[in-house]
Amino acid sequence: MKDKSLVNINGKILPPDQATISVFDRGFLYGDSIYEVTMTLDGVPFMVEEHMDRLEKSASKIGLPLPIPREKIIEQLIATVKKLAVKKSYVRIVCTRGAGEITLDPTREQTGSFILICKELHPNPSEWYDKGVWMVIADVIRNHQRATDPSVKSGNYLNNVMAMGEAKKVGAFDAIMLNHQGMVSEGTTSNIWIVKDNKFVTPPLDAGLLGGITRKSLLELGQSQGLFMSEANFSPEDMKNADEVFLTSTTKEIVPIVKIDDKIIGSGQPGVNTRKLHAMYQQLMSEHYKSEKSRLNI
Ligand code: PDD
Repeated sequence: MKDKSLVNINGKILPPDQATISVFDRGFLYGDSIYEVTMTLDGVPFMVEEHMDRLEKSASKIGLPLPIPREKIIEQLIATVKKLAVKKSYVRIVCTRGAGEITLDPTREQTGSFILICKELHPNPSEWYDKGVWMVIADVIRNHQRATDPSVKSGNYLNNVMAMGEAKKVGAFDAIMLNHQGMVSEGTTSNIWIVKDNKFVTPPLDAGLLGGITRKSLLELGQSQGLFMSEANFSPEDMKNADEVFLTSTTKEIVPIVKIDDKIIGSGQPGVNTRKLHAMYQQLMSEHYKSEKSRLNI
């Protein structure tokens, strides 16, 4: 059965087969766009202000004016999801520099577009969490910060697409990407963590990665609960010799990684620290939805 979905293009809510944009759109031609991925539960968006903060940061870093103010994007998001009427939805917010003459010149006058793709979100396979997943270290590296800055969530994901392709070719779940110095940066659409001697470590932002909203929440949550959380660089070898490894993202939450390349991590089972942090995070998520429901009056 096809998932229920709706697309909002510049304020018009459309069924997916009628949702089209111009072939002259710079998002299509050059990846000249930015995006966010969040989700909703009973119509309530998850960490929407944090996603808007990051969208604004991405926009300002590439000099792309947001087509409409953030409050309007949130309004449109809530309205589209309300119309979709599903328990849980995936929401992709895309802003492009718009359509115009075919030229790289980003300073030409043009009207940007915003697009919201909202679709029914099913629970992730329980296997991911019960058994853990196998990741490979990609040959292709994450961008240098002075190229397409990885802290910008842009429509330029070709490196990450290629990295995931490497993983899929060998039947792995996904790939871990290194930076130009050979240190771990992040997953193709997730942040990477290790646990060593009960200490949680994730690479710092200047390793060249996307500042994940899940990553930030976990750093704060762990600290508030007295866990040892730190941001520090680690090598692929450090990672392979860690007691536990896991990835984090909005839609995946916390997924244990039990094998990297041909190296089994720890016992080869999801670790206790990973499970404990995930349980704490799920508690935080349900409290967050409750308070957002009343704050946004949904
Ligand atoms: N990806 N790193 C990259 C490169 C990402 O694309 C993402 C998110 C993350 C995790 O960020 P967060 O915790 O804010 O979801 C890290 C989304 C989920 C995606 O592209 O589907």
